[in-house]
Amino acid sequence: MNIILLGPPGAGKGTQASKLVADRGMVQLSTGDMLRAAVKAGTPIGLKAKAVMEAGELVSDEIVSGLIGEKLDSMAASEGAIFDGYPRTEAQAHSLDEILASRGRVLDHVIELEVDEDALVERITGRYTCANCGEGYHDRFKQPKAEGVCDVCGSTEFKRRPDDNEETVRTRMAEYRAKTAPILPVYEARGLVRRVDGMADMAEVSAAIAAILDN
Ligand code: AP5
Ligand code: MG
Repeated sequence: MNIILLGPPGAGKGTQASKLVADRGMVQLSTGDMLRAAVKAGTPIGLKAKAVMEAGELVSDEIVSGLIGEKLDSMAASEGAIFDGYPRTEAQAHSLDEILASRGRVLDHVIELEVDEDALVERITGRYTCANCGEGYHDRFKQPKAEGVCDVCGSTEFKRRPDDNEETVRTRMAEYRAKTAPILPVYEARGLVRRVDGMADMAEVSAAIAAILDN
């Protein structure tokens, strides 16, 4: 099974991908996470990507498609892939077709998380993660059970993304509308698009995705 989770910043792609990893043993391929790891490690890709990401703009198609190809090559053929935040342009969608075909993989579904953009600003600006294990939290929607202590690993260190401020979020949304939304009709013409209400609560969104995958 190979699926794309598509939706604007804050739609819940990462949240739902983590759930699929935990429930089904699929592998999450998040270009955002890969780029943040490259920035942190100070690799040549990270050095190129840092300022672009902080401005909320898109990193080059060649870089992200290269990262996706490398990650797929490290996976067993039996492992399902969840593309989270990729593809984001028509050129990336085209590259993904080639990347999958050359590895004998087939795209099963493109799941679009439909959301209300204004609500997303609150979701994103309230978001933070455990600095140790990466578990995601939110100031309003998902607080640790014990204040200041990660539910999963017990760490007391948390972090916020540098691009999670309102101004950058608006740029990221504009990039989504201008460059990413236009790839939907392409997948629609191939009968691959499934829509899910991304404004429902997390468990309901997960159930709707599970129903699509089990169908
Ligand atoms: P990326 O990391 O992909 O960020 P994004 O697309 O902006 O999406 P987010 O990660 O912000 O949101 P999400 O949909 O994962 O939501 P989440 O589950 O966290 O990309 C970052 C940057 O990297 C880009 O701007 C670009 O510069 C670069 N980049 C990455 N990929 C690229 C590519 N392919 N090409 C070029 N450049 C690329 O949820 C958000 C919050 O809401 C969380 O706190 C969560 O707990 C909460 N939440 C989730 N679901 C619900 C719900 N149903 N109800 C209530 N709260 C919810
Ligand atoms: Mg994400």
